[in-house]
Amino acid sequence: MELLKERIRQEGLVLSDTVLKVDSFLNHQVDTQLALAIGREFARIFADKPVTKVLTIEASGIQFAMATGIALGVPFVYAKKKKAVTLSERVYSAPVRSFTRQEEYRVCVAQKYLGPSDNVLIVDDFLATGAALVGLVDMVRESGAELAGVGCVVEKSFQEGRSLLERKGVRVHSLARIASMSPGDIRFAENDHPIHRIEEPV
Ligand code: G4P
Repeated sequence: MELLKERIRQEGLVLSDTVLKVDSFLNHQVDTQLALAIGREFARIFADKPVTKVLTIEASGIQFAMATGIALGVPFVYAKKKKAVTLSERVYSAPVRSFTRQEEYRVCVAQKYLGPSDNVLIVDDFLATGAALVGLVDMVRESGAELAGVGCVVEKSFQEGRSLLERKGVRVHSLARIASMSPGDIRFAENDHPIHRIEEPV
């Protein structure tokens, strides 16, 4: 998505070899028109799937899941990172190992919001190590829903997230794929093919 790549070139700050700061327009302050355009783009890419629900994880996936839900005319659900006291009903849950925070937490979704009659499109802001997204994929599969695929706004293709998801048989589309980055130099990959492969079994 050229518009998105242009914003990343203009405003993205490379904090280290692995961390890109985009909080002026994507995940702290949010450019609402760009978010809506991102939602329309995911809706276009997954138009061949009969999506009934968009799923994301709090917090930074929410604006893109909502935009995608609006474009598709379906609800979105966001997984919670801690079981809220109001979530008294049965939940699907999955452990997520956060590589950025070096801690394990659980994500959960009320069972009544995901089920075998659903076709789910997962949307998130970053595809990095894939830890959170693998947790969402596992919950969708446990619910008996069909998984349409995973749409990510920014993919760091030099990290293992895409490979992990593809090896679980998941269709992955990212709107901006970063092949490599260093301060002042962000390079994009051109297509949806894996750049980095890991050989260990999942
Ligand atoms: P993922 O690939 O499945 O997203 O999992 P990972 O554990 O690698 O990422 C952990 C968190 O760090 C995620 O947010 C993800 O969006 C964020 N993240 C990963 N790489 C970058 C990066 O280069 N820049 C920024 N800004 N964020 C990054 P989270 O923990 O779920 O937090 P939040 O959604 O509440 O912000």
